[in-house]
Amino acid sequence: MIKILFVCLGNICRSPMAEFVFKDMVRKRGLEDQFYIASAATSTEEIGNPVHPGTRRKLREAGISCEGKYAVQMKKSDYDRYDYLIGMDEWNRRSIMRIIKKDPESKVFLLLDFAKSPRDIADPWYTGNFEVTYADIVEGCQAFLDYLKSREKVDF
Ligand code: 4NP
Repeated sequence: MIKILFVCLGNICRSPMAEFVFKDMVRKRGLEDQFYIASAATSTEEIGNPVHPGTRRKLREAGISCEGKYAVQMKKSDYDRYDYLIGMDEWNRRSIMRIIKKDPESKVFLLLDFAKSPRDIADPWYTGNFEVTYADIVEGCQAFLDYLKSREKVDF
């Protein structure tokens, strides 16, 4: 079982999009038994709030449901609970490190670290553009799944 926590600032735009896109990719490949996938915030800003309408719309267009998801904050204990903590941008990475203090098992990555051109996921909170964010997230999730396939001893 590979346990993955996607992380962003608010857990309403980018990390839920990554959570549900990645769950969909895993399900379509019949791999859901091999994964536990969730998402969380580094801040308290949006705790308890539903997924942002812009993210919900992009997921709905792709035929993906995010029903029942409400923002939660990540905890220090998540470091032991998960195998991968995947931030969306450099600011998230710094905030994750502030929460977990250290990363002796090298579990912390950014989603686009796995892509051909590593960079931050476009932040729709500031751009208002969920299209670019969605394209970045699909690119990152595909690259991450390819990375796991090459690295983990799982039956893909
Ligand atoms: P997210 O987007 O981190 O992708 O969920 C944001 C949500 C809330 C805020 C910023 C970004 N905020 O400043 O409250």
